[in-house]
Amino acid sequence: CAASVHARVASAVESRTTRGLRPPCLATVLVGENPASQIYVRRKREVCERVGIVSRPLQFDATVSEEALIAAIDALNADDEVDGILVQLPLPSGVDTTHVIERIRPDKDVDGFHPYNIGRLAQRIPLLRPCTPLGIMELLRARGETLHGRRALVVGASNIVGRPMALELLLAGATTTVAHRFTLDLADRVAEAELLVVAVGKPGLVDGAWVRPGATVIDVGINRQPDGSLIGDVGFAAARERAAAITPVPGGVGPMTVAMLMQNTLHAAELREAGDGTD
Ligand code: GUN
Repeated sequence: CAASVHARVASAVESRTTRGLRPPCLATVLVGENPASQIYVRRKREVCERVGIVSRPLQFDATVSEEALIAAIDALNADDEVDGILVQLPLPSGVDTTHVIERIRPDKDVDGFHPYNIGRLAQRIPLLRPCTPLGIMELLRARGETLHGRRALVVGASNIVGRPMALELLLAGATTTVAHRFTLDLADRVAEAELLVVAVGKPGLVDGAWVRPGATVIDVGINRQPDGSLIGDVGFAAARERAAAITPVPGGVGPMTVAMLMQNTLHAAELREAGDGTD
């Protein structure tokens, strides 16, 4: 599924260059030395290269001031050669994430995290949409899943995944419930769900035995075990016995997130050329 998105983006990028347009350019902003963030940014840059998108890496010490980071964002906003700006999260505690995200020009916000883009999605006029939820929607559509009227449960209410996931499902016509840290009867909510998306980051949070038989299960969690292996948030072995389909960790949702980042970067380049941005 990720491979078919890569192919689609690569072919659109190639057709741009044959028309004399430059390839899209993604600026990646990495702050500090969080090993997971380093791996994610490296992976995103590798896929850029594979589909013909130019990547421009910016790297800052964990001690960088918010002012310096904002100044770097301003420079990228003003740079006509830059189509997309990705600030890898989490940022160090000395920097206010909201200030940084809000500074990105909404038409270069390829992560779709700016309140403008989230607001557009909430009002059913999406522009640049958060990559993980969008990748999940693509996976579901590729499987031919019905979403209209389907009983969907999103576990986790983060700005990056849970909330925009619920907005995507709502937009697609699913009857959408969000469970979070204050939800009292998680097992009962899970048992009702025909479509279950779990994005919390706690291994084993959802017991596989709670899964409704025949449900579709999307596990967004990526948790490193003491032995170095990665597992999701859902008890995989038991869930697999009950679910009609379940995404593996690693290799399920992660590659789709990166693929949608490529699609968004292409989309951002096209938006700005069409003069369809927000300026
Ligand atoms: N950290 C965890 N997920 C993401 C993501 O999708 N984008 C960025 N920029 N940072 C993240």
